[in-house]
Amino acid sequence: GVDTLLRVTPSMLKEHRSPDDAWTAIGGKVYNMTPYLKFHPGGEKELMRVAGRDGTKLFGLTHAWVNVDFMLDACLVGFLVSEPRS
Ligand code: HEM
Repeated sequence: GVDTLLRVTPSMLKEHRSPDDAWTAIGGKVYNMTPYLKFHPGGEKELMRVAGRDGTKLFGLTHAWVNVDFMLDACLVGFLVSEPRS
């Protein structure tokens, strides 16, 4: 739910790249795409290309007019942040 939004680093994102647990980041927001996979007009395979990584660029290239903010609001996981320094 919206009360438990996470700060997601690129390495955390990378752990969620299978169809039953597929996260992507678009415009700094991290979404769980799994519930949406079977509904995507462009197909599951295309969506899986951005699983576990930042999909902003590819998303913008294919359909910059789609409002992902609105569409995947219920699938919001949190926000993409940089890796912490060690
Ligand atoms: C079509 C949503 C990610 C490839 C669409 C359409 C929507 C949509 C609503 C229909 C658009 C229209 O007809 O105007 C989303 C959402 C995404 C996402 C919410 C983010 C999670 C991607 C990615 C790719 C992709 C990453 C490519 C790697 C396509 C393609 C179509 C399409 C090729 C055209 C399908 C067709 O008309 O035959 N997507 N998309 N999508 N999407 Fe996505």
